[in-house]
This record gives sequence, structure tokens and C-alpha cells, in this order.
Amino acid sequence: MKRRKFIAGTLLASGVVATTGFLQACKEYSEVSAKRSPAFKPDVEFDLISKTDKVNIFPNELTEVYKYDFKLIKGDSANIQEIRNSYLGPVIRVKKGQKIRINYKNLLDEESIVHWHGLHIPEEMDGHPRYAIDEDKEYIYEFKVMNRAGTYWFHPHPHGKTGPQVYGGLAGLFIVSDNEEDSLNLPKGKYDIPIVIQDRTFNSDNQLVYLQSPMEKMNGFLGEQILINGRPNFKLSVSSKAYRFRLLNGSNSRIYKIALSNGMPLIVIGNDGGLLKEPLTKNYIVLSPAERIDMIIDFSGMELENKVELISLPFPNPNMGGGMMMGGSSGLPNGTQFKLAEFNINKIVNEPFQLPKKLSVIPQIDTSDAINLNNPRRFRFAMSRMSWTINGRTFSMTDVASDEKVKLNTSEIWEFINGGGRMGMGMMGGMMQMPHPVHIHQLQFRIVDRSSNNNSTLWQSLKDGFIDNGWKDTFLLLPGMKVKILISFKDFPGLFLYHCHNLEHEDMGMMRNYLISS
Ligand code: C2O
Ligand code: CU
Ligand code: CU
Repeated sequence: MKRRKFIAGTLLASGVVATTGFLQACKEYSEVSAKRSPAFKPDVEFDLISKTDKVNIFPNELTEVYKYDFKLIKGDSANIQEIRNSYLGPVIRVKKGQKIRINYKNLLDEESIVHWHGLHIPEEMDGHPRYAIDEDKEYIYEFKVMNRAGTYWFHPHPHGKTGPQVYGGLAGLFIVSDNEEDSLNLPKGKYDIPIVIQDRTFNSDNQLVYLQSPMEKMNGFLGEQILINGRPNFKLSVSSKAYRFRLLNGSNSRIYKIALSNGMPLIVIGNDGGLLKEPLTKNYIVLSPAERIDMIIDFSGMELENKVELISLPFPNPNMGGGMMMGGSSGLPNGTQFKLAEFNINKIVNEPFQLPKKLSVIPQIDTSDAINLNNPRRFRFAMSRMSWTINGRTFSMTDVASDEKVKLNTSEIWEFINGGGRMGMGMMGGMMQMPHPVHIHQLQFRIVDRSSNNNSTLWQSLKDGFIDNGWKDTFLLLPGMKVKILISFKDFPGLFLYHCHNLEHEDMGMMRNYLISS
């Protein structure tokens, strides 16, 4: 195996890492590896292998990628969908309550570990970077699916290398269904379609190009081409009926403002943590890295050969220096308008869809459950001494500060603030602010408040696109924004991550541990 040869620009990228000096060797933690427990009787078992591969994305030259390979050992193969001619990993469908065993084998020539994004599972199953394994090593995951029906996903999480490994192709979907969802008669089977949105840059030999300048790393990687499910120019022939689309923003740093080209509103039925209480109609949706949206597009009433595009609408470029004067991505700046996918009506059917009025029973938000209602725990996401920090700190493998420790079986209000502090003032401070998609591992939470002290054109352009209902594990924190969440620490004590899901920011250390003690 050739060492990451496929990523042009890697040399420069590692130069960036060296100058900012965040990367640390963490081999001493790689010895831990969960074992198969004989008492655990899985309903679904599969091998998952991370490796380098060559795939047929474009004509002529094959593209060298990282890929999750998959082999079912126990379970129904109809629940696993491989995506052909793509780097993307499989789409895995399971039911709530099922026991899953995953035999993960790392065949990359560098360390890796798999994180199950959004799943409520014990700490040794969560893919924390301290569990990263070397080439040829195995890690066994065994857990019971406790999450509600929804769209979750998996991707690597070795510290300092998550960005390049996800970019190289390592990601897949983990879709959960349950009885409540089954009773709704939502579109199923080939009418339930995953849409993983990512951006990539290819050179003239069809090879992936990653970071090319230090400023690109500070901003986060932006690709010049949009891929859906690992394929360019995504087109889908559809019948004139309702479809369910599960959108995942699997991009390293790009934000999308999603809409339909014909102005038809989007019918949102779910987000990160599953179905909403009731459907929500939106003219556009803001989807930041790692967020998911579950929506219905009803093509009924359309005519043969009608065409509808899923697009990303324009918004002001939020990157530092506007992405121009400071040398951001050249090809496709954040906030550019472009097409994501194209739907062509090729069959007229008469199957009217009844959108359920109620989707799911979700308890009301009760902030009085929080033990710190009037004294929220504060997390400031900001630039400090030329690096991206949380409360002025960067990641250290097992480090937890006193203000990052919580108690099992309590609920808290956490408040996230973008910017401020001494660097946040004035012109220069403003330029040092960027949107940060904030993610917390292991738990789904509720958003109780979102406000902005910054009446910018960016806020104006995006403010109607946030889906703050239902359960979330990731939310976008714009410059000047304050978001309050209600989070309950249940079932699993341990050391878990919270971080910026702009993967370049994460790799630079905009990530911390929090500790749940029993
Ligand atoms: Cu999808 Cu720690 O993240
Ligand atoms: Cu996660
Ligand atoms: Cu960030």
C-alpha cells in the first residue's frame, strides 16, 4: 500500500500540521481493543474494513480512495445497500432494540477507529481517538440499538486525521427504524433514498486533492465539485409520487442552504435524532457538516419529463476574509449557488400520499429539569492565539477540565457562544470568526434557544433554515450566535467528545472531552 499517495497536497498539509503544532503521538492509547463477548448474541453481525481502493467515479482513470468494505455475517442482506462506483461506505439498516456486532479491521497504513455518529452507546463503542488501532488490527463493537428511528452515520475518528480519512472516502449511513415509524406509512424501499452530500476536488488524473494552503486549513476544506453518494452529476428518475429523502451533510466544512429549483417548499419530517413531532414546511434548510435532515418531496401532479433540482441557494461567504483576500478555496467558495441533484419524472402513477399530521411522540422540552437552569455551563468556540479553541483550550487525548465534568442521571443547560473574548472585538476579531458546527458525542439533546448578537447579512440569509425542533446531535453556531441546549446524561458514564465538526477545525484541536461520572 502506498502511503496516502492519492491525496495530492498531503505534503503541504502535513507541513501545516507541523507549523501549528497540534498533532500529538497517541500510540500509548492504541493498545485497548474490545473483545468478542460470548454472552453477546448479535441479531446483526458484519465485518467492516477500512482500506485503500480504486473506484470508477469518472471515465478513464480510476480514482484512488479510502473505502469501507463490508461483509455480512448475520442478518438480512436486503438491509445492506452497497453504493456502486463510489467511495462511500454501505447504507446499513437496523431496527431499534437489535444487537449489533461489528468486526472492524483497519487495513489503512495509518491508525483509524470508527465512530457511530449520533448513537447512544457505551464509551468503548463510541470510537474515541484513544481507541484508534494500527494497520492490520481489529476492534470489536458490540452494542444494542437504543436510538429512535432516524438517520445516523459512521466515520473515522483518529485524532488529527479525521479530515483526510473522511475526505478520502470513509463514511457510511446507519439507519434505524422502529415500530412507531413503521405505523406511519412513510415512503419505503426504493422510495426512501439516502442523499449524502459531499464536496471534493479532483486533479486532471481524476485523483483527489486535499488541502493546498494553510489558510484552507484554517477555513476548512472546500471542494470544487459536489458529489451525492460519492457520485458526480447525481440524477434520479422518479415516479410522480412522494419520496422520502434522508440528507446527510458529509462534507468536511461546507454549509448548504437547501431548496428546490421550482420553489416548492420542503416538508421536513426528521432531523439528527429522528422524526419530529409533526411535519414542518420550510422554504430552505441550512445543513452544516454532520447534520441530517429527513424530508418528503411529493412529485405527484407533475408531468412526464418534468425536472426538479435540489439546489444550494447563495449566501454570504462566512469564511475568514470572505474566502477571497486571504486565499480561501479558489473554485467554489462557501455560499455559492449550485445544483446538488436532479430528479426527472419518468413515470406517472396515481398514488396520492397522505402526510401524517403527527409523526412522533416527543416529550415537551422542560428546562426546569436542568440542575443548572440559571447558571448554564458555557462553551466559547473562538480563535485564540491563532488556533481554534473551546474555552481557550485545544484537544488533549484524555484531558478533562473541571468545568467539563458532569454527573450521570442529571440534566443540564449548556450554552454555546461563537466568538467574543479578547480576540472577538473589533474588525480583526470579526474576521477571526467563522461558523462552527458543534457536535456532542453519544447523546441527543434539545435546542432550547438560539439567538444572535450579530445582525449580519449571513444571519439574515440563513435564519429561517434552522430546524431546532426534535432531537439534535449537531447544530450550526454562526459568528455572534448563542445556542442553549438541554442535555440529559443517561445510561452510560465515561469519557466522550464534543467538538467542532468542521473536520479541519476538529483535526487542529477544536475538540474536547467531557466526563460523565456515576
Ligand atoms: Cu461525526 Cu466526533 O463526530
Ligand atoms: Cu459523533
Ligand atoms: Cu469550527
